[in-house]
Amino acid sequence: MRKLTGVTAALALLVAPVAALAQATGVKAIEARQANFKALARAFKTINDELKGARPSVDVLRRAAAELSVAAQRIPGGFPAGSGPETGAKTEALAAIWTNRAGFTEAANRNIAAARALEAAAASGDLARIRAATDAVGPTCKGCHDSFRLKK
Ligand code: HEC
Repeated sequence: MRKLTGVTAALALLVAPVAALAQATGVKAIEARQANFKALARAFKTINDELKGARPSVDVLRRAAAELSVAAQRIPGGFPAGSGPETGAKTEALAAIWTNRAGFTEAANRNIAAARALEAAAASGDLARIRAATDAVGPTCKGCHDSFRLKK
């Protein structure tokens, strides 16, 4: 019995640093993806604000559309295993991201497609087309948040 306890204690010593490392990795991933979502939201706001102005700048729209597209493409890689609510870190990511990976990837791909379409519209310089493409992005944000982000 005493021997077994000794083995358990030795195992605990071995396991503890590994668990701590895994958690640090998870928290780093959480911080990185939250920063990416902030960049995504900032670019989207820039576009919406610009379109509300009297004379929207196509240059500003193009730059922000490119940023939005890059951030959208980074989303799927931002959720490695072990970076979910089980870390105990502050995250709004729902466990469904990992249990329904196919659904999450599909939601991310819809957002990427909308972002790319907006980039193409911005490249054309056609404001009506840019407005329509911008309006098509919002529902793809909500579509993912509804299933995969904690409601506040
Ligand atoms: C494929 C899923 C998905 C898509 C698409 C998506 N989001 Fe999110 N978003 C999330 C998840 C999950 C979180 C929570 C991340 C966390 O806390 O770890 C989040 C968090 C955020 C946050 C909070 C970031 C922070 O400060 O912690 C903002 C802002 C945000 N999203 C805006 C947007 C906008 C704007 C769009 C569309 C242009 C968008 N998101 C598209 C899944 C998505």
